[in-house]
Amino acid sequence: MLGRTLTAAARVRARLGSASPPREELIARHAAGRSFVDVGCMWTVHGALCFAAEDAGAASVTGVDVMGATDRFRAEVARRDSKVRFVQGDLHDPATVAAVGPHDVVWCSGVLYHAPHPLLTLQRLRELTAGTLLLATETVAETPGRRGTLVIAPGPEEHPNAEPARGPDEGYGPWYWGISPSALRTMLALAGFAVDEEHRTPFHVTVVAH
Ligand SMILES: C[S@@+](CC[C@H](N)C(=O)[O-])C[C@H]1O[C@@H](n2cnc3c(N)ncnc32)[C@H](O)[C@@H]1O
Repeated sequence: MLGRTLTAAARVRARLGSASPPREELIARHAAGRSFVDVGCMWTVHGALCFAAEDAGAASVTGVDVMGATDRFRAEVARRDSKVRFVQGDLHDPATVAAVGPHDVVWCSGVLYHAPHPLLTLQRLRELTAGTLLLATETVAETPGRRGTLVIAPGPEEHPNAEPARGPDEGYGPWYWGISPSALRTMLALAGFAVDEEHRTPFHVTVVAH
């Protein structure tokens, strides 16, 4: 049910438009002359943000995803004669973090609420971040009178209507977590990030952190 609510919220957000800077603009502002990695670079975007960073003059660009490179991604690499490096792997796996290595700028959008252990996800992002983290995530509304709410999407046993939890082999499909903006701040601090900028729209937050 939470998944459906969040999906509906994302549709409303898409209709309302976004007060966040367009992601290509945000990336262009930070990526020029620096190493850049997009964690979760493939599904529906086919490496588009990697190419945006390359266009912005990033010193080097890496894309990471648990799913494999799509034909569209490969075709665009060939068309541009792109130098983007793609690493297929699970961010939570230390071997993936080692293969990717630290980058000046880390872009990660649409991943955190799909992760069964979001603090571990942030910790891994911290290991990759040598300078700036650009993190975008769907969120839920603050709970009146109780900041820092993080709601777990119930599994199918408790809630027959909920999507079953899926792991890395199935691309972490469902929404595990409903994260309030204040919870996100706390989680980022726990992982060692300090937030420099926050762009909020209903049900979505983009942060610039270091
Ligand atoms: C909801 S899509 C978001 C795609 C894109 N970043 C965007 O914002 O539109 C999540 C992407 O992250 C990838 N992903 C999810 N969990 C991951 C993990 N633990 N390690 C690597 N990639 C992951 C998925 O395979 C998928 O490509």
